[in-house]
Amino acid sequence: MTHLRLGVNIDHVATVREARGGAYPDPVRAARLAEAAGADGITAHLREDRRHISDDDINRLSRELNIPLNLEMAATDEMHIIALNAKPRAACIVPEKREEITTEGGLDAARQHNHLSPIVRSLGAAGIRVSLFVEPARDQLDAAKSLGAPVVELHTGAYANASGAEQDRILARLTEAAAYGESIGLEIHAGHGLTFDNVKPIAAIPQIRELNIGHFLVGEAIFIGLDASIRRMRALMDEARA
Ligand code: PXP
Repeated sequence: MTHLRLGVNIDHVATVREARGGAYPDPVRAARLAEAAGADGITAHLREDRRHISDDDINRLSRELNIPLNLEMAATDEMHIIALNAKPRAACIVPEKREEITTEGGLDAARQHNHLSPIVRSLGAAGIRVSLFVEPARDQLDAAKSLGAPVVELHTGAYANASGAEQDRILARLTEAAAYGESIGLEIHAGHGLTFDNVKPIAAIPQIRELNIGHFLVGEAIFIGLDASIRRMRALMDEARA
């Protein structure tokens, strides 16, 4: 099976920094540590309200990382300009509501076609690999394809929050969506809410090429350190893939 990449999301290192203001802890230092621990990429979400990652973090990450940066961003004019200036390797377009605690639900790529189309085209033309963060549903994958996005990231939040038979049903939807998405030529990523306990069934879906994981890894770092938390996640992904 193809290698499953791990993108480490370092937003919540910045959340701890913002709890006090100032410069500590530094998410760029966490990104370098993640790189040393085996992360294949770094993911950071520059939110409209700048509640964690700052513009300066994005500039420093784009300059200082040796592994690809995946910028999570809302489809707004402001973020569009920032992405064109920062030129990350990848940009994942996510829905964003100011009052939400985290990204709730996927992008409605099917209904927002006209709004998304120019930004997907423009980022793609700038050499940025665009992904759309969507629910595991065929209409969303078809919409992503018709928008010309090369990648979709399947939202695993509902899977992560469910249990028992409900979780099995959502896993079946993710499995079907990954196969369908690949069959129409999309590269498939997944993420949101993944932990040591729930990552393996997702990592075992053969069409998935990349997982983006953040909150749990940074939380677990409090107990076992960031290096150990990333290495353990990597090992679980590799076991699921073997
Ligand atoms: N992928 C996307 C598109 C996200 O918005 C997020 C959260 O910022 C993640 C992955 C990572 O989710 P978590 O922090 O729950 O691991």
